[in-house]
Amino acid sequence: MNILITAGPTREPIDPVRFISNRSSGRMGVALAEAALARGHAVRLVTGPIAVPAPPAAERVAVVTAQDMLAAVQANLDWSDALIMSAAVADWRPRTPSPLKLKKNRMPAQLEMERTPDILQAVAARKGGRVFVGFAAETGEPEEEARRKLQAKRLDLIVANDVSRADAGFEVDTNRVTLLAADGTVEALPLMLKTEVASRILDWVEAHAGFRA
Ligand code: CTP
Repeated sequence: MNILITAGPTREPIDPVRFISNRSSGRMGVALAEAALARGHAVRLVTGPIAVPAPPAAERVAVVTAQDMLAAVQANLDWSDALIMSAAVADWRPRTPSPLKLKKNRMPAQLEMERTPDILQAVAARKGGRVFVGFAAETGEPEEEARRKLQAKRLDLIVANDVSRADAGFEVDTNRVTLLAADGTVEALPLMLKTEVASRILDWVEAHAGFRA
């Protein structure tokens, strides 16, 4: 299969030296890319600024902002049989980033913000026969929120995790996730390495896309 994976955070500039971002390290997306390559799939990996090395065998598209990530996903969607959106896309960006560094005594106390594009919603109409997988990082009621996003973003599978726990979610090698599929099946996985979580997600994708290496 041709698998398009997004990983890591996006950065939304305030000025040339400051940005809005989040704690995503890219570990989950990189684990997915490595597992997919090991199974013989072709991988295109769209990364925000990640804190871990990307596998050299993946075709890498490095981006910074949510807008760049949307453009990269749109450009590679036709190529793909499956899209796995593990990136933590920033939802808001400063409306007018300054081209010059803002001096602290002239910086506004409040930044005017605007929404970034929702990448999954923007490409939903081009889904066709592709498998779409999303993630839902939550700090409360992960399953309920994940089910809402599964429907709103027209996903086949959503990977829900509770990021309020120290051993799961951001910046660690382990994760505790629940897989919720559009057909209503729910599978709660125990705490496991992100490499193992990646393997379980790929099992699901292969089973629902029909494996062709
Ligand atoms: N996502 C996306 N585009 C965005 C934000 C998120 O495609 N601008 C994707 C993420 O990669 C993830 C899924 O949507 O696969 C859910 O992301 P999440 O941040 O949990 O959800 P949001 O839609 O941002 O909802 P909320 O802020 O209400 O939790």
